[in-house]
Parts: sequence; structure tokens; C-alpha cells
Amino acid sequence: MAGRSRDVTDEIRHRVSILEVVSPHVTLRRAGRSYKGLCPFHSEKTPSFSVDPERGVFYCFGCHAGGDVFDFVMRIGGLAFSEARRDLAERAGVRLEESPDAEQRAGERERLLRAAAEAAAFFRVQLAEDGGRRAREYLASREVAQTVIETFAIGCAPAGWDHLLRALRVRGFDAAALEQAGLAVPRQGGDGHYDAFRDRVIFPIHDLQGRPIGFGGRALDDAVPKYLNSRETPLFAKGKVLYALDIARAAIRESGEAVVVEGYMDAVSCHQFGVHAAVASLGTALTLDQVLLLKRFASRAVLVYDADAAGADAAVRGLGLFDQAELPVRVAVLPGGTDPDSFLHTRGPAAFTELLEQALPIFDYRLAIAMEHHDRRTVEGKVGIVHEMSQLITIALNHVRQAEYVRILAERLGVREDAIRDELRRLGHRQETRRPQAATSTPVPVARGRAAAEELLLHLLVADATLRASVRDAVVPEMFRAPGHRELAEALLAPGASTDDVGRLRERLREEAAVSLLSRFLIAEPPVKGDPHKVAGGCVQKIKLSDLEERIAQLMEAHGDAVRARDDARRDRLAVELLEAGNEKERLRELKVSV
Ligand code: GTP
Ligand code: MN
Repeated sequence: MAGRSRDVTDEIRHRVSILEVVSPHVTLRRAGRSYKGLCPFHSEKTPSFSVDPERGVFYCFGCHAGGDVFDFVMRIGGLAFSEARRDLAERAGVRLEESPDAEQRAGERERLLRAAAEAAAFFRVQLAEDGGRRAREYLASREVAQTVIETFAIGCAPAGWDHLLRALRVRGFDAAALEQAGLAVPRQGGDGHYDAFRDRVIFPIHDLQGRPIGFGGRALDDAVPKYLNSRETPLFAKGKVLYALDIARAAIRESGEAVVVEGYMDAVSCHQFGVHAAVASLGTALTLDQVLLLKRFASRAVLVYDADAAGADAAVRGLGLFDQAELPVRVAVLPGGTDPDSFLHTRGPAAFTELLEQALPIFDYRLAIAMEHHDRRTVEGKVGIVHEMSQLITIALNHVRQAEYVRILAERLGVREDAIRDELRRLGHRQETRRPQAATSTPVPVARGRAAAEELLLHLLVADATLRASVRDAVVPEMFRAPGHRELAEALLAPGASTDDVGRLRERLREEAAVSLLSRFLIAEPPVKGDPHKVAGGCVQKIKLSDLEERIAQLMEAHGDAVRARDDARRDRLAVELLEAGNEKERLRELKVSV
């Protein structure tokens, strides 16, 4: 079947049964129209994972993973859409006639993957050969066990300029191919190439399927750089991989918690000493992509950081990301001058596990540090502590959490919450002028009641085609605010949208939250009985009331400002607007809305 990629995607969707794709990963039992089993994406004891074969969607009521057959294959294999598509096309016997461009890119990736695999094999063999003696001695001096050398496929690059180049040329990879894979470097002047990795211990970096995509090379002495990483290639994007995740994923799923360390050796030692849920960020500051990647497998994380200032800073930066990803995180603090690797070797796994158990949520961790810096019994000390904690509190995206931070701080310092809020606001204004980008990342607060109304309304719209047709005037996407809601509303209200064509709906969605909601609404019945037109009307009313309440709150604040500024004209104008808004609210509240 030829044609545009869209036709091919539809064809695959038609031919492949999501049940058959999911079955090898999950033991499914029939439950009404759908099938249930233990979720492969998080650790659980009772089944919350559902598959609806008719509609071709899956959804987990525990971790909210959801989507169609492509989403499942992407998530389970850690694949990009194009890779999942190729995978499924093969299974369905659909021929992918990709654009010459896409075909070339796919071909290039394949070639890079093969080059990386050949190189990894070469490095491994070298470790056992004569040229690997120093590397073997080095690994022995650091007490790296043979078992982890095998698990992590650790190898070495011999001293010399072109061992890898020569070995891979025989296997059909020329210098240009190795350069592309980040394994060879052109000589100055453009005359030939030399090996990128020389005289180093090699830690291959694997993707989620365990295929080598990049390498880290540790110097055997004080040579600089201490660690050399592959440069970015079409295969290897540093901010998007976590070292050892392919090996740690099973343990992470099982315990629910990922252990995040900084270095290769830290990760390797963790696994050697039985901390099997350890992954490394590879020294660079964590990225949001990495945290989201982790969240696919973990429901919690613990960062193991040095006690030094850099570690503390990294923890604060990290918090923003974990907060954004909504992945709860704690910080375990190592004694100064140690890292997980040295700690494990000197103090042993039991002490390390104890340290992990004592890890503090980031807020408590920072508060403990701030309390060491300042004397909380004095006024100056209290002010100092609030200042030190302010950034952490204000970058918390979740408002419930933010309020909780303020409450804890007030309690610990013995001051009123109001006083802390005032001070944060004052500091916030000062910061805003300096860091405008921080202000724009603050999301619109979503009232609980409102979010619930939005959600119920969307659920009804998914479940009921006649409702979808009749609400066109009363419901617009702009009414929706909670994450994913607006995008889903846009897709549902688009002309021709139909839940009979889940594929088309799915293709309109980019945000994971929206895909998750759509899957849930397709699989579960709306939680409210009764005439859907009346129930939906109630939701619309609630949303409009929430808009009005927000407007009234803004007007009141502006009114207060005008009073304080003794701007009588403005004050009176605002008073009139307030009155009108109040009346409108009363009217709306008494209305019996049906859509
Ligand atoms: P060992 O000395 O082998 O125990 O390494 P370490 O992991 O304790 O080193 P360190 O704490 O200095 O660095 C932590 C991580 O940062 C390393 O594992 C590397 O991923 C990264 N890193 C350290 N030094 C360099 C470097 O010179 N270049 C690059 N690119 N990364 C480095
Ligand atoms: Mn170290």
C-alpha cells in the first residue's frame, strides 16, 4: 500500500490489534468491554491497566499512561514515533513508502547504530587483549567487579591513534562513517582521521533497548579531560539519555523509586553493591527530558548529591524540573568529599541504603541548610531564612505544594503565614524585574472545582456524540485551562471530530496530558448519571462562575490599590464594575443551564 504517511499510519492502526501488541508485556483478563492487567509502566499489585481493543486505546488508572497502539510501542520500547511506526508496519505487513528524505534519515540512523555496536564490541574485546592491560589494572585498582564489567559492557580503547579506525574499516565502516558516529576525528588540515577515544576505559551509553548510542571514556591517569563523551550525533542527544537506565528500569519499576547519581562510576558501583535502581545524569545538569524519561519508569526519585555548594545548587535547579514533571523527589546528602562510588567502597552498601532512607524532600533539605546558615531565634535570622527559601518556594509550580511550603516555613520560624507571603511577594517583585522569564513560566492557577467541571464536561463530550454536536455555541476551547484540557477540547470540537475515528483524534493531540485524558474518557464511563445536557450545562455554569470569581478578585485587588493610592476616580469606576460583576454572578448562579 503506497501513499502518504497518514494513510500508512491508518492502515497500520487497522491491521494491528492493540491486544496482540500489549499481550506479550501484560497478562490481560477480560473485564466487560475491555481487558485489565498489571500496568507495565509503573509498579502495582492490583490491576489498573486497561485496554479497549475496539477503540484501540490503553489507559492506566494508576499512573495515567494512555494512548493508542503507537503510544504503547513508543512507551514500552522508548522509541520515537517513526521507530514505533516502522516496528508496527513490519508486524502488520504494511510497506512503508517513506519520503526519500525520511528513508535516508532512517538509513543513516541504522548505519550509526551498527557502527556504535561494532565499536562497543571492539572496545570490549580490547579489554581482554594485550593493549588492555593498563585499563584492566585501572579497573582492578578501583575494585570494579567482573560482573558489572559484563553488565555494563565496559571496555577500553587502546593507546595509539587508529586501532578502532583500522578494525572497523575491515567491517565496512570508513573514516567518514566513524566521524559521523562521533568515533573518529578529522586531522587538522583535513588529511585523514584519528580515533576519538584513545587510552581510556570505555563506558558504552545504551538506549532503552540496550543498544550502544554513545560512549564515555575515562582517562587512566590524570590526563585531561578526565571523562570524554561522544559528541552529539543523530543517535546521541546528551540531555535525553540517562546512563544505566536500560539496566535499572526493571528495578525502578519494581521499587517505584529511581536513584539518580552524577557519574558513570557512581552508577556502576551502585549496581555492583546491589542498588539496582541507579542511573546517572552524566555529570551535566539534569534536563527536563531526562526527568520525564525517568518518570516513565519511576513514581519517585532520590538524588544523591555531594554536600558541597554545587550539589545544593544542582538540587534546587533539579527541583524545578521534578516539580514541572510532577515527579516527587528527595535528596540524599553524602558526607563532604565523597561520592556514591567512594562511599560505597569505604562504608559499604548498608550505610548507603541508610543514607537513601534518610533522604529529605528538597524543601526540608534546603531548610536544614538555611537553618545552619542563620539563627532562627533572631529576627534577622528569620528574614535570612525566608530569603534563602524564597526562590525554592516561588518556583514551585504546584500551588498546593507552594502553600504547604509556606505553612511549614511559618511553623518552623514561628511567624505568621501572611508575613511570609508578604515578604515573598516583595522579593518576587524585585526578582521579576531581573528575571522576566521566571514570571512567564508561572501557570494559571486552576481552581479545584473548576478543573473538575472542565474534566467532567470533556468526559461527556467524548462519551456523547449528540452532545458534541449541540454544544458548539455554548462550549469553546478557551473555557478550558487545566493541563491538556484545552488541547483535547480543540480536538473534540473540531469539525468532523468523531470518537469512531480515534486515530484522527489522537493525531490532533501533542500534550501527553491530553492523550492520557482522551484514553481514560474512552475507556471509563462518565462518573455522573442523568441527562448529559443538564450535567454539561452545570459544568459550563461552574466554569463561567469561576471566570467571574477570578475577575471579581482582580477587581477587588485593583480597587484596594486605588484606595491606597487615593485615586478616587479610578476607585469609583472599579466599584461600579465590581457591583456589575457581582450582579452577573448572582444571575448566573440562579440560572438553570442546559446545553
Ligand atoms: P571518577 O574520578 O572516575 O570517580 O569520576 P567521578 O564520577 O567521581 O568524577 P566527577 O565527580 O569529577 O564527575 C562526575 C561526572 O561528571 C563524571 O562521571 C562525568 O560524567 C562528568 N565529568 C567529569 N569530568 C569530566 C570532564 O572532564 N569532561 C566531561 N565531559 N565530563 C566530565
Ligand atoms: Mn568518583
